Amino acid sequence: MDFKKLVSHCKEYGFIYQSSELYDGLAAVYDYGPNGVELKNNIKNYWWHSMVRMHNNIVGIDSAIFMHPKIWKASGHVDAFNDPLVDNKDSKKRYRADVLVEDYCAKIEGKIQKDVDKAAKRFGNSFDEHQFRTTNGRILERQAKIDSAMSKLNTGLAEGDMAALKLLIEELEIACPVSGTKNWTDVRQFNLMFNTQLGNISGEEGKLYLRPETAQGIFVNFLNVQKTSRQKIPFGIAQIGKAFRNEIVARQFIFRMREFEQMEMQFFVRPGTEMEWYNTWKESRMEWHKSLGTDANNLRFHDHENLAHYANAAVDIEFKFPFGFKELEGIHSRTDFDLKQHQEYSGRKVQYFDPELNENYTPYVVETSIGCDRMFLAMVSNALVEEPVPGSTDGSTRIVMKLPKAIAPVKAAVLPLLKNDETLVNAAKAVLGQLKKHCQVQYDEKDAIGRRYRRQDAIGTPYCLTIDHQTLEDGTLTLRDRDSLDQSRLSPEEAVTLINSETSFATIC
Ligand code: GAP
Repeated sequence: MDFKKLVSHCKEYGFIYQSSELYDGLAAVYDYGPNGVELKNNIKNYWWHSMVRMHNNIVGIDSAIFMHPKIWKASGHVDAFNDPLVDNKDSKKRYRADVLVEDYCAKIEGKIQKDVDKAAKRFGNSFDEHQFRTTNGRILERQAKIDSAMSKLNTGLAEGDMAALKLLIEELEIACPVSGTKNWTDVRQFNLMFNTQLGNISGEEGKLYLRPETAQGIFVNFLNVQKTSRQKIPFGIAQIGKAFRNEIVARQFIFRMREFEQMEMQFFVRPGTEMEWYNTWKESRMEWHKSLGTDANNLRFHDHENLAHYANAAVDIEFKFPFGFKELEGIHSRTDFDLKQHQEYSGRKVQYFDPELNENYTPYVVETSIGCDRMFLAMVSNALVEEPVPGSTDGSTRIVMKLPKAIAPVKAAVLPLLKNDETLVNAAKAVLGQLKKHCQVQYDEKDAIGRRYRRQDAIGTPYCLTIDHQTLEDGTLTLRDRDSLDQSRLSPEEAVTLINSETSFATIC
């Protein structure tokens, strides 16, 4: 579905609102509404279920957002968690230098795609896209421009060479999208951490950071968790929590936010075995995405060209968002960097005694890190479709969110056929009372039944239970399936059993 339509659907149906909308909004910060919070919680619960419940050797924690400021010095975030920033002197607008170059390349890629689409139309079934892309002169010329720009960008970023990035922007003749001029300041590094001040300590000593990743809360608790959970290496620690980044370019809805949530797992392994575990987690995380029904064609791996200061290997799982393939999750082999740094900065020994090897060592770490909000956007992008009503012959369409049943925000809706018939309403409320002990249910008696079905389709409710006059006679109700629109009659107890089993995580994990 068109991205703009998706964004307005999310608002209209109580999934996501702009933060502080009453005061004209706060950029890149969003609030989750009644359906949004249910969907987000289900995504988080499914991740927790897959990580912690399904693995005997992974345990969870919930560490504080505020941590000792030295932690961020040790982790490298104070010195190296920067984005290259550039201002346009005329519009006074601020940009990420790398994003300006990437946008320039995306425009050229758009032109290439247009040519490919045109050719595909012209040649029909005999069209070979790979051959066309690798032999067509105009495409090769354009691709060379992209490759050269990206290679210069990557070298500039890897070397931290801000002058080279400025030169590249000038060379490519990139203009400010607002003023249209090429009047740029120098490119400089901008630290992405938000900070705040403790009330009882003034100056630098009392300066705290809002964590930019949840991972450090895991590293600094490594010894506590290992000792109290008596886990042996290899084992993992999982955490879900808020992270904060002062993003310069915040756009594409909840894709890039200043306050967001991460679901991270650090897996501690013997030195020398990290690449094996890196590959295992890479495959395992890809399978997790597929378990949620995501088409394999909409997922791909993308190896990092510029490794972060702590990594010896890193890959993104990219998802095909409505605005193209973008990072959804990162899998990083973080070496022993973080634990060693915390050992050095804290002055305490952060090591593991391996009883099998009879020796102490600093474990290596493989991390899986996914943004909960990005996962939410991926799920909604996947699920929201406008389609012909199944079985209809009059050309009517419906908007339906085909979420996996296990993560749908509302599992069932209870609908009395008529709102003015007290006996039907009472029977419906009795069913509601039974069902709500098991799952998230909505009760709706307003409007004609068809409109109520459409409202439930629009938020992805897998089952609608209609209570009609036959219910009063034989106690059965009608269960309507969101996807097939099949209807069947069954007792409320049978409906509870079916809904519980069909919406359980066990169906997908
Ligand atoms: N601990 C490693 C780490 O934080 P990252 O690649 O910077 O790695 C991990 O972030 C994931 O967090 C990303 O793949 C993305 O899903 C999510 N994420 C990062 N920045 C984000 C932002 N500004 N808004 C929403 N999600 C974000």
